[in-house]
Amino acid sequence: MNLPMAGYAEAPLMLESIPALREEVRELARERGAVILAHNYQLPEVQDVADYVGDSLGLSRQAAAADADTIVFCGVHFMAETASILSPEKSVLIPDPDAGCSLADSITAEQLIDWKAQHPGAVVVMYVNTTAAVKAETDYCVTSANAVDVVAHIYREHGDETQILFGPDMFLGAYVEKTLGRKMSVWDGECHVHAGIRPADLNAVRDAHPGADFLIHPECGCSTSVMEYVAAGDISADGVHMLSTGGMMAYANQSEASGAPRRTAIVATETGMLHPLRIAAPDTDFIAANEAASCRFMKMITLPKLRDALRDHQYEVKVPAEIADRARLPIERMIAIG
Ligand code: 13P
Ligand code: SF4
Repeated sequence: MNLPMAGYAEAPLMLESIPALREEVRELARERGAVILAHNYQLPEVQDVADYVGDSLGLSRQAAAADADTIVFCGVHFMAETASILSPEKSVLIPDPDAGCSLADSITAEQLIDWKAQHPGAVVVMYVNTTAAVKAETDYCVTSANAVDVVAHIYREHGDETQILFGPDMFLGAYVEKTLGRKMSVWDGECHVHAGIRPADLNAVRDAHPGADFLIHPECGCSTSVMEYVAAGDISADGVHMLSTGGMMAYANQSEASGAPRRTAIVATETGMLHPLRIAAPDTDFIAANEAASCRFMKMITLPKLRDALRDHQYEVKVPAEIADRARLPIERMIAIG
């Protein structure tokens, strides 16, 4: 499978121009009273200039709590929409409005409405990687950090026989099913970057680094087979960690704090994640499970575009009130649970 590589429509940024651009961005952020949020998959120079770098859940929390009038979201469009839904009174800017998400595109509001009509009474659980219109048709949102907790909460609150429509990521759905030992109705969407990290990739890198830990994002195409390897005893469960990008950061911080001897960790997710992991735990060797796993949407946000966004107050992401008002509830339920 060909994975999309980071593509630059603009001229590549010269290393020597980064310090001046950084200064300019920080100065503009001060002048405009703006907070810069960046996802863990952003380009290193964008992460380095942000006020807060994190996973989808952490970024949603930061957006809800921010006291700045302007939030500049360095991530993909659904993330900026989520920030705008949570803070409708603030200006939410995205430096490139075309930064989309193949997973969010894998289900539309119309498709979800049809699916619900076929399953009256079912509870709808959707990953935050969805459009605002899909969230408006959703009962609970989840991120990879809290999907298991949210679904367990639904069974506790609504009863063990509850039918759950879970989407759009089928690998995350399979992970939740396996962890909780229950079947849901799962949409068959996927993220093209994570679906492209296949069992064969993991086997090859595992052969090259025996004894390494595995940090695996549950969206990965290899996640189901890893759970099967563990169940079959082919891989020891001790070194396998199914984690959101925020969970991977917690692993790195813990690894650094423990002072344990140098170790190796194979990272199965988008390769932008290697930058914050290596900063957090310089004594751990983080190795990509698949070097080509780069999200071209995340990499559309560059330092010059971030500077332009702050300078020219562009591109504002605003969710119409009638959709935002309905989409807020499932996000707030998720934030309250975990
Ligand atoms: P996290 O929720 O783990 O940050 O992942 C977001 C994402 O886009 C995964 O591809
Ligand atoms: Fe979407 Fe996949 Fe990119 Fe994450 S890595 S933003 S799920 S396309």
